[in-house]
Amino acid sequence: MPDSTQLHIVTGKGGTGKTTIAASLAMALADKGKKVLLCEVEGRQGIAQLFDVPPLPYEERKVAVGLGGGQVFALAIDPEAALLEYLQMYYKLGRAGRALDRFGIIDFATTIAPGVRDVLLTGKVYEAARRRTGKAFTYDALILDAPPTGRITRFLNVNSEVAGLAKVGPIRRQSDSIMKMMRAPETHVHLVTVLEEMPVQETLDGIAGLKSERLPVGTVVVNQVRDSPLPEGGLDRLRAHKVVLADVERSLKKAGLSDIDAEDFVLEGEAHAQRQSLQDAQRSVLVTADQPVAEVPYLTDGVDLGALFELAEILKTEVLDG
Ligand SMILES: Nc1ncnc2c1ncn2[C@@H]1O[C@H](COP(=O)(O)OP(=O)(O)O)[C@@H](O)[C@H]1O
Ligand SMILES: [Mg+2]
Repeated sequence: MPDSTQLHIVTGKGGTGKTTIAASLAMALADKGKKVLLCEVEGRQGIAQLFDVPPLPYEERKVAVGLGGGQVFALAIDPEAALLEYLQMYYKLGRAGRALDRFGIIDFATTIAPGVRDVLLTGKVYEAARRRTGKAFTYDALILDAPPTGRITRFLNVNSEVAGLAKVGPIRRQSDSIMKMMRAPETHVHLVTVLEEMPVQETLDGIAGLKSERLPVGTVVVNQVRDSPLPEGGLDRLRAHKVVLADVERSLKKAGLSDIDAEDFVLEGEAHAQRQSLQDAQRSVLVTADQPVAEVPYLTDGVDLGALFELAEILKTEVLDG
């Protein structure tokens, strides 16, 4: 029986593949036979889309079964529902809680005060991570499709602000417990990026921010990596514009591709070689963060359920066992 639920928090610049990597990581854990809860907090229903299921209610739903017999449950955490649940749990409000909702008080608390929102979202994560079925934890692992890199430290750290406000009492105990979970050895904050200048810089800044608050940085997942089918020598010749047009024409003809314009073909090859150089440059920038790095290929056919299995296989060795 595990001592505690593992918590994998996945952040990254928007559009780099946060949701894709979080879902793949959940599948990787299910492959290892784990019971996993995959949570999203941004109200985008990205998980439902990815697993091709109807929009997720504020209720845990099984969305997939891993090859190793584990299961993936999913939950879209909604701050308003979390607040009502919280009031019900702590104050047994029931109908009175619903009245608050009618008067717009729930709206007020969750949208006007952004810090409150984050307290509620992280509070729900904490509840799910510590929930027990009998003696054992209900879930072996929680995966959080978290806010983007620019907001992640503030989000994970919000309970330390609460702890600063409440010196004693149940709120202080709750916020201390949540901060303890965030900084526990079972918690890992993974950062998804692509090999481009802006996201890589954001990743480095994100890592520095997390470290300054003693939040546990996990693996940098480099997503959408485009490998080259060409050997290094070929790439070098393309970059140096040393590819002979007549040679290319002859090769294309031999391959039965004489309808391809050789000059265009070379230009495309040079652009490809250039992109590979840019990727390499960003790779060496990322190394300066001194964190484990896992690379995930760009999938030309897009990301469907089958792709999640494929990515899970990579993440299993590169992130979970690495
Ligand atoms: N490895 C990959 N190969 C190909 N397409 C990818 C890959 N990872 C993500 N994508 C695509 O990129 C887009 C953004 O991914 P998503 O996971 O939704 O990013 P985020 O959650 O960071 O906004 C989606 O269309 C997704 O299918
Ligand atoms: Mg997303």
